[in-house]
Amino acid sequence: MHIVVGITGGIAAYKAPELVRQLVKAGHTVRCAATEHALQFVTRVTLETVSGAPLYSDLFASGGTEHISLKDWGDMLVVAPATANIIGKVASGIADDALSTLLLAFSGKPVLMAPAMNSLMWAHPAVQRNLATLRSWGIHTVGPAEGELACGTSGVGRMAEPEEIVGQVATLLQHAEPLAGQRWLVTAGPTYERIDSVRFIGNYSSGKMGFALADALAGAGADVELVSGPTHLDCRHPRVHLVRVESAREMYAAAVEAFPACRGAILSAAVADYRPESCADHKLKKQGDEGMTLRLVQNPDILATLGGMKNAGQRLVGFALETDHELENAQGKLERKHLDYIVMNSLRDAGAGFGVDTNKVTILGADGSREESPLLSKQEIARLIVNTVTS
Ligand code: PMT
Repeated sequence: MHIVVGITGGIAAYKAPELVRQLVKAGHTVRCAATEHALQFVTRVTLETVSGAPLYSDLFASGGTEHISLKDWGDMLVVAPATANIIGKVASGIADDALSTLLLAFSGKPVLMAPAMNSLMWAHPAVQRNLATLRSWGIHTVGPAEGELACGTSGVGRMAEPEEIVGQVATLLQHAEPLAGQRWLVTAGPTYERIDSVRFIGNYSSGKMGFALADALAGAGADVELVSGPTHLDCRHPRVHLVRVESAREMYAAAVEAFPACRGAILSAAVADYRPESCADHKLKKQGDEGMTLRLVQNPDILATLGGMKNAGQRLVGFALETDHELENAQGKLERKHLDYIVMNSLRDAGAGFGVDTNKVTILGADGSREESPLLSKQEIARLIVNTVTS
């Protein structure tokens, strides 16, 4: 997994390189982010050497967007040590340096903090109130332990040992990835059906919905086979394997091959039902003033084929893009194609369907369940669908 280790300015920062070393030994890839004060206690060279990656400590390096790249890259953020200062900043929404900015951007993924400070500071109501706020937002904490402190006194405030933090990381990653070990198939985008060497029949699908589904499944721990028709989108998640195809028949072949090894499939592609009977290998020329007749033949129905192949342990989810009699039509597809769920989106809803960044769906289950969403981003819709169809 990709772990970002954030280090703040307390004496316990001297344990951070050992924590990084143990995380790397446990098989994780680590990048470090440190505050300016942390670098008074531990050097850049040490952190870069043990992690094997450049340290992130300057908010304005790389054009000031490194916190977003690191947020996309990381599966988890561990702050060790976490001083009273960083805890207070996050609780108050302050982002005035590299690490605090990263912490505010790091949403939807686990964050673990290992507080370390003097016992009087730890007991201060402000620190306890700030920690309670962070916990209410789902931020996890480990420690502090009781023992000898750097200031010569003893009490509660010692940072948890690296072994304990590494153990906590493993536990949290397991829970954060309910689909770990599962393979899912997703289809996305349009299909192009060639007429000749320069023309095709296509549709307005951008692939945004399908790519968001692949990302949501991978974010929940699944390995994803994403079979996509032509689109400008790219996928950066390391657990998504992108297979680019052009026509419905190519998408059919890739999906039928991948499905048997999958726990489930979500088919969001807008597949052409018909293709030209033949495709000219040159550019067709206009012929006089006559019209032109293009004979179309049916494409295979990928979803219906997978419905016939499906075994009892597999989940199959289809989409229905409707313009009228929405629920009735979607229910018909759910039954005819032997699906577990169908996600209906209607072109009558503003902001839903092709091309846009948002969608509004109704998820119908074979068990009679029905869940309606408001208009949300395609990423949020994807997480909603994944939660529903995998639970
Ligand atoms: O890509 P975006 O711009 O983000 O747009 C998203 C979307 C509108 C394309 C998406 O939300 C959507 O509705 N996808 C399904 C579009 C569609 O073709 O619906 P349909 O009702 O015609 O097909 C029903 C289901 O059968 C779909 O799951 C489709 O993938 C599948 N199908 C259809 C025909 C075929 N030959 N093979 C199939 O697998």
